[in-house]
Amino acid sequence: MKRPGVLFVTSEMAPWVKTGGLGDVAAALPASLRGAGVDIRVLIPGYPALQAAFPDARPVAELPSLAPALPPARILEAHTDGLPLLLLDCPALFGRPGNPYLDSYGKDQPDNARRFGLLSRVAAHLGQPGSPLGWQPDVVHVNDWQGGLAPAFLHYEGGAASVITVHNIAFQGCFGHDMLAALGLPAHAWRFDAVEYHNQLSFLKAGLQFATRLSTVSPTYAREIQDEHFGYGLAPLLRHRAGALRGILNGIDTTLWDPATDAALAHPYSSDRLGAKRLNKAALQAQMGLPSASDRPLFGVISRLTHQKGLDLLLAVADGLPALPAQLVVLGSGDRDMEAGFCALAARLPEHVAVQIGFDETLAHRIEAGADSFLMPSRFEPCGLNQMYSLRYGTPPVVRATGGLADTVVDIDAPLAANPGNGFRIDGDSPHALWMTLERVCHTWHNRRRWLDIQQNAMRRDFSWEQPAREYIELYREAAAAR
Ligand code: ADP
Ligand code: GLC
Repeated sequence: MKRPGVLFVTSEMAPWVKTGGLGDVAAALPASLRGAGVDIRVLIPGYPALQAAFPDARPVAELPSLAPALPPARILEAHTDGLPLLLLDCPALFGRPGNPYLDSYGKDQPDNARRFGLLSRVAAHLGQPGSPLGWQPDVVHVNDWQGGLAPAFLHYEGGAASVITVHNIAFQGCFGHDMLAALGLPAHAWRFDAVEYHNQLSFLKAGLQFATRLSTVSPTYAREIQDEHFGYGLAPLLRHRAGALRGILNGIDTTLWDPATDAALAHPYSSDRLGAKRLNKAALQAQMGLPSASDRPLFGVISRLTHQKGLDLLLAVADGLPALPAQLVVLGSGDRDMEAGFCALAARLPEHVAVQIGFDETLAHRIEAGADSFLMPSRFEPCGLNQMYSLRYGTPPVVRATGGLADTVVDIDAPLAANPGNGFRIDGDSPHALWMTLERVCHTWHNRRRWLDIQQNAMRRDFSWEQPAREYIELYREAAAAR
């Protein structure tokens, strides 16, 4: 059977533009699908970082203004390892360097409706008969709210089947009513069972309402978002569309994240040479200015510092670290209050806590390798990549059992678990529950034999993209057939 042609639409792609896991997924999944024979092309805004990375990108289409508020644009084509990239070239909307969504004060860019309205509009256009590329995909696959209007345009105007993947339902892309006509949607789309949401135009709701198939990034999150507590207002719609919704666990790039070949590490290691992991711990302690204590565990955190990630729970108990005793390394950025909280903690406990505010890929790899255990007490976590990186690096994670964390981390003390324990689940959502788990980790860590077993269980599991890619191909087939 013919494999479907797919236009994969994303607002981030590592290594060029990345604010979180979507960037990693958009780099690895299309490549893996292409490897599996899918005719896939990636549409992404032509941000300055991409223009700089692909100076020879070739113009392949000139697009007129497609709606009253949308300027004309161009499509430039480039290739990365053979994967076709379609850069949406529109300097007026995508010419600003830096964070793809926020301005330099950390606020949403004021024209995000037009910016991602253009991305969605163009995605739909390329999925319609008469596409200027001379190639029409069977499926337009959008990610998160930034591509959410494409399924709506395809619904109202016809064209390819569509899939929307929810990476985080908390971000919904809501804008004023004036954007409806400005972006070229019909007046009759202003209905509660179309794109209107609490008197706003919601990009994400539009996608969830009209995409032929829906997916999210773990089976547990697919169930959770149908529940009011996790659904951020969209649970009723998701329950209504449950038959079209799938949970496909993300993979990780097992070449980029491989402790045996990781160029960021001074001391590569593997599951049968775990001794070298200790050298990475010492190197990390030295780099972060912590004493090189080898008699206590070192916890690692790499995260956006936001309410979602639950790191306020850690701040609430972290003054107890010297008593455990344990050390902590934090790399992250986000909410100013939380950044300040971690910096103050490090100033109070310089022997025990080191904090770096900012985004640093190399240090992220060194923390995964050098830490003994990785902390991810998220309130919700659609999938989470860091716990999978941690498992692969033999750094047992401490998690709350939500979303993809529940699908990947098996508690070492879980009775009757199908898989052997590879980490720790926090039993509850209070600082006290986190504290009890930290004590349990420390206690277990001192039992070297037991710890080695847990590390080896962690490193054994396969998190490559092969299986998820097969599930996406199946989803594309279903969507194309349902259209
Ligand atoms: P989310 O997408 O919700 O932020 P994920 O766990 O899916 O969470 O993905 C986060 C990705 O971003 C991981 O690749 C992680 O290593 C990376 N990351 C997050 N914060 C930083 C940081 N400050 N420096 C380097 N990498 C970071
Ligand atoms: C989102 C989620 C995260 C997920 C990532 C990639 O940013 O918060 O849990 O891993 O998307 O799907």
